[in-house]
Amino acid sequence: MTTHKIAVVGGDGIGPEVIAEALKVIDAAGVSIERIDYDLGAARYLRDGTVLPDSVLDEWRGVDAILLGAVGDPAPGVAAPAGLVERGILLRMRFDLDMYINLRPFRLPPRINCEVIRENTEGTYAGEGGFLRKDTPHEIATQGSVNTRFGVERCVRFAFERASRTERRQLHLVHKKNVLTFAGDLWQRTFDAVAAEYPQVSTGYDHVDAACIHFVERPERYDVVVTDNLFGDILTDLGGAVAGGVGYAASANLNPDRTGPSMFEPVHGTAPDIAGQNRANPIAAIISASLMLEFLGEADAAARLNAACEHPEQFQGSTTEIGDAVAAKL
Ligand code: IPM
Ligand code: MN
Repeated sequence: MTTHKIAVVGGDGIGPEVIAEALKVIDAAGVSIERIDYDLGAARYLRDGTVLPDSVLDEWRGVDAILLGAVGDPAPGVAAPAGLVERGILLRMRFDLDMYINLRPFRLPPRINCEVIRENTEGTYAGEGGFLRKDTPHEIATQGSVNTRFGVERCVRFAFERASRTERRQLHLVHKKNVLTFAGDLWQRTFDAVAAEYPQVSTGYDHVDAACIHFVERPERYDVVVTDNLFGDILTDLGGAVAGGVGYAASANLNPDRTGPSMFEPVHGTAPDIAGQNRANPIAAIISASLMLEFLGEADAAARLNAACEHPEQFQGSTTEIGDAVAAKL
C-alpha cells in the first residue's frame, strides 16, 4: 500500500473542524497518509506576523498533496488586513506551485451534474496594475487582466480532456467577449483551435451574465464549463448556491503536469460566526478529500467516498456526527 505524504492546513474558523472529518473519512476509506500539519492562516499571522514562509513553500514542493480547510478572519471581530492571508497563502500557493486549474464539481440530481474548470493563475488575479496619485482627488487605480496564449491554452486543453471523458461530452466556454474584446477573443480563438482536436466534444459559448441565469433557471444546460479566473470565482459560488449550498461545494487546485503538489479545499470560507461550535457541514471538505484521493490514484477509495456522499442531504447533525456517518458508510 502506498503512503501519501499530505500537507494539512486546517487554517482558521471552521477550517480545522471540517478538515478533521475529512481526515477521519480518508482513514475509514483505508487510505494511508503521512500527515504533516502546518499552523498557517490569519490566527497565525495575528500571533507572530507569519503568512507563508519560503521554507514551507519549498517543503510543499516535496509533498503529494495539500489539504486545506479555510484561511481568513478567525473569529468575529478579529481581522487581519483585508485579503492579506488569502492572497499570501492561497494565491501564492496557486501561482508559485503552478496549480493552473481550479476544478469545482456541482451535483444535485436530477438537474445538476456539471463541473467548472476555472483558470487559476492569470486574469485579474495576476496582480497587474497599481495606483497613481493615491489619496489625492486625482487618484487612478488600474487592475489589468493577464491572458497568455500559453495559460489559456493549457486550461482549455485540460477542459476538453475532461469533457471528452464525461457521458455528455459537452464543453461550454464562458466569458464576456462582446465587451472584453481582447481577452475574450484570445479565449475564443484558443478554444476553437483546441476544439478541432476534440471532434467528439460538442461545444458552446455563453456570456457570463447569461450563464448566471442558466445556472439558476436551467442548470442541466451544462456539463463541463471552462472560464477565466474571476468569472470562475463568481460562477462557482453561484454553482454552490444552486447545488444545495456552499456546504457541499468542493474544489481541487490542480497542477496537472505534476511539477508540484495539488491542493484540495472546500469552496466555503472560515465561517467565524459558527466556528468552534461543531456546527459546520464537513461534506464540502470530505468531497474535496475524495477529489484528492482520485488525483493521488486511489480511484477505488475515491469512488467509495463519492458513493457515500451521493445524497449529502441525508447527513444531518453536528460536524463530527456527519463525519462519523460518512465514515460508517465506507
Ligand atoms: C476562492 C476564494 C479565493 C479566490 C479568495 C479567498 C482569494 O474566493 O477560492 O474562490 O477568490 O480565489
Ligand atoms: Mn471564491
